[in-house]
Amino acid sequence: MRVSVILAAGEGSRMKSKKPKVLHEILGMSMIEYVIESAKDSNVEKINVVVGHGEEQIREHLKDKEVIFTRQPIGKGVPYGTGYAVMQTLDGISDEDTVLILNGDTPLIKSQTLNELINFHEENDYAATILTAVLECPYGYGRIVRDEDARIHKIVEEKDACQKQKLIREINSGIFVFRGRELKDSLQFIDSNNNQGELYITDAIEILFKNNKKIGGFNLKDTREILGVNSRDNLSTCTDIMKKRINEKYLIEGVTMIDANAVIIEPKVEIGSDTIIYPGAVLQGKSKIGSNCKIYGTTRIVDSEIGDEVTIDNCLIESSKIGSNSKLGPYAHIRPNSNIGENTKIGNFVEIKNSNFGDGSKASHLAYVGDADVGKNVNIGCGVVFVNYDGKNKHRSVIGDHAFIGSNANIVAPVKVEDYGYIAAGSTITKDVGEGELSIERASQRNIEGWVERKGLKN
Ligand code: UD1
Ligand code: CA
Repeated sequence: MRVSVILAAGEGSRMKSKKPKVLHEILGMSMIEYVIESAKDSNVEKINVVVGHGEEQIREHLKDKEVIFTRQPIGKGVPYGTGYAVMQTLDGISDEDTVLILNGDTPLIKSQTLNELINFHEENDYAATILTAVLECPYGYGRIVRDEDARIHKIVEEKDACQKQKLIREINSGIFVFRGRELKDSLQFIDSNNNQGELYITDAIEILFKNNKKIGGFNLKDTREILGVNSRDNLSTCTDIMKKRINEKYLIEGVTMIDANAVIIEPKVEIGSDTIIYPGAVLQGKSKIGSNCKIYGTTRIVDSEIGDEVTIDNCLIESSKIGSNSKLGPYAHIRPNSNIGENTKIGNFVEIKNSNFGDGSKASHLAYVGDADVGKNVNIGCGVVFVNYDGKNKHRSVIGDHAFIGSNANIVAPVKVEDYGYIAAGSTITKDVGEGELSIERASQRNIEGWVERKGLKN
C-alpha cells in the first residue's frame, strides 16, 4: 500500500505567530491543505498527519478531510525532530508499504512530481529515495553528501555542516519515499547527537547507506516546488509563485489578464474562456466565473457564481449568484445569499442582501435592497430603501413583476407590491399595493406665491 506521512507537529517559531505554521495560508488555502491535495493526487491510499504543536487547531481545520492523525508528544524532556515525528506513525506501517514522507510546510510540491518520485523509487527498488534539488542559495537546507562514486551517503543539516559541506548546493527537499521495512529498521538507530539535539529523519539515510541499502536521489529541476516555509518572507515568496502558477493555468485556458501580476485568484476558482480580468481583481473561495465576462478594478468575488457575459466594475460580491448578461457597478455590494437574475443592472452604490432580484430588473443608483423578493423587470429608483429591520427583527418584502419603485421610496417590510404596482417617488410604503395600482404617500404640494420677497430674501 502507498501511504503518506505528513509532518505537521513542529512549532514554526520563525513565523512569530499564534497560529500553527502549517495553517498559514497561501491564497486562501492552508499550506497543509496544499500538501494533502498533492498527496491525494499521487495515488496515496492513506494519509497520516503527525500533529503536536497546535494540534487542536490543526485537527479542527482538517476535520472534513480524509486523513488520519497521529499525535507526537510535545513538551520538556520529550524528544523532538522530524525523525521522532515519523516514529510515531510506524505502528500503522507494514514492511511492504511504500511510505511517502512530506512536510506540511512545503506547499508548492506538485502531485505530478510525487508520482514521478514514487515510480522512480519503486522501479529502482530503492530502500529510500530522496527528492533533491540543486539550489543557487542552499542556506538553511540539509545538504546531500555523496561519496566518490556519487552515491548518496548521508544528509547533513545546515546547523551541523562543516564549511566544506556548506558549499554543497544539492539539498534535501524534506520529501522522501521509504520502503516500510527499511524505514522501521533504520529509525531504531537514529540518535540526537547533533547541534539541535533532535532526532532527524535525515539520519536514517546514513544508517541505510552503512547497511549497503540502495538509496536513490530524484533530482527536481523546477526547484520552486520544494521551497519550504519557515518565515513570513518564505510565505510571501511561495504566495507569489502560487499566484503565477494559478494565473498561468487560466491564461492557457483562454482567460485574458491585462496585468497577470496584479490579479489574485485562489486555487479553487473556476473561470470560463474569453473572460477579461483587469488589474486589482481578487477572486476567492469556490467562485465560478462564466465566459466572456469583464471584471474591472478592485472587484472582489467570494464564493459566488457569475454567469456568462457579465460586466463587473469595482464590486464586492459575496456568496451570491449573478445571472448572465448582467451589469454590476461601479461600486455595488452584493451581500451573501443574493440571487441576481439575468440581464439585470445594479449600478453605483447599490447594496443587495439576502434577496432575489429577478431577470431584467434594475437598481441603477444608490439603493438598499435587503431581505426582498424582487420579481422580473422591476425598476428600483434612485435612493430606494428596503426598510427590513425594525430594531428587533428582520422582515421580508415582495415586489411583483414589472413593478416600479419611484426614487427615494421606503418599502417598510413586511410589505407586498403586486405585479405592475407603481410607487410614487418619496413615498413611505407600509401597506400592500395591489396589481396595477399607483401608491402615493406624501403630503400634497403647496406653492406660496411671493414668499421669498416678503421675507426680504431677494435683493
Ligand atoms: C527539514 C530537513 C532538512 C530539509 C528541510 C526542507 C530534517 C532534520 N531536516 O529541515 O534536511 O532540507 O526540512 O524543508 O528533517 N516537524 C514535526 N515534528 C518535529 C519537528 C518537525 O512534525 O518534532 C515537522 C514540522 O512541522 C515541519 C517539518 O516537520 O512541517 C519540517 O520541520 P522543520 O523544523 O521546518 O525542518 P527544517 O529545519 O526545515
Ligand atoms: Ca522547514
